[in-house]
Amino acid sequence: MGLFDGKKGLILGVANDRSIAWAIAEEIMKQGGECGFTHLPDKPEDDKKKNHRRVAKCLEGWEKQAKFLVPLNVQSDENIAEVMQRAKEEFGKIDFLLHSIAYADLRDLQRDTVETSREGFQLAMDISAYSLIAVCNAAKDIMSERSSILTMTYFGGEKCVPGYNVMGICKAALDASMRYMAYDLGPRGVRVNALSAGPLKTLAGSAAKVNEMLPLYAAMAPLGRNITHEEAGRVGAFLLSDMSDGITAEILHLDAGYNAMGSPGRLLDRIKEAQTKSDG
Ligand SMILES: NC(=O)c1ccc[n+]([C@@H]2O[C@H](COP(=O)([O-])OP(=O)(O)OC[C@H]3O[C@@H](n4cnc5c(N)ncnc54)[C@H](O)[C@@H]3O)[C@@H](O)[C@H]2O)c1
Repeated sequence: MGLFDGKKGLILGVANDRSIAWAIAEEIMKQGGECGFTHLPDKPEDDKKKNHRRVAKCLEGWEKQAKFLVPLNVQSDENIAEVMQRAKEEFGKIDFLLHSIAYADLRDLQRDTVETSREGFQLAMDISAYSLIAVCNAAKDIMSERSSILTMTYFGGEKCVPGYNVMGICKAALDASMRYMAYDLGPRGVRVNALSAGPLKTLAGSAAKVNEMLPLYAAMAPLGRNITHEEAGRVGAFLLSDMSDGITAEILHLDAGYNAMGSPGRLLDRIKEAQTKSDG
């Protein structure tokens, strides 16, 4: 018996086998769930269809449970509607929906937040925050009466994390959108939550400089280590399952406890040690 036996849903945001969405989807399918997947549309000039190919490769061996793979650009309402129509044809109603999507122009991530461009801000907000609202609206009529929507967020939306810059502002908007979606969809029995993950090496993660964050988290977090893709898979699946019934409008931190720290903790001890050595 699996946690997701008889459950069906949509996974938005797999780019490759390092994507957080893939870790969550794998756990759901291991537990018996059936999923529909999307990939970022390939540019017409890309003969190799890289985006499609990378996601299709992840799905190899999962043919029984991975029911379809279709393109999705969340900047297009028409495209979002097509994906929902496909899900309706395949599943009727769905029990879970994962939104694991973010994008900002690298130039905007690399400059000081105060210099964020207007176009860059609008683009990042559209893809990384508004898309949750658009997807919830398009999905609401096919969500079952006991279902769950999950989005992926980061601590940089709650506190200033230098380097995360415009994406931090997007995550703050995403977190607020998640709470309002939870309110609007609550009477339908649809829960909406956010999983706030610590740094993980992924495509989007490298743009957000996770490599710099990993040693900091390992040094400061109460658990004294970073989280893993497998943990993200299990906790994401938990929030998308009936096991988390009663939880909605919540940000769950999966970060080895980092967000609870009010001082650098053991990292400070290390700094003191280094200072003593250099003084002596
Ligand atoms: N990696 C981390 O450390 C970390 C930590 C906390 C939160 N997150 C969040 O997790 C989510 C998934 O990121 P990831 O780290 O797995 O990286 P990823 O690059 O694997 O996933 C990002 C996804 O967004 C999709 N996307 C971008 N623009 C799109 C568009 N216009 N339409 C449709 N899809 C689009 C990409 O195709 C990709 O599948 C993001 O919201 C990210 O901010 C990541």
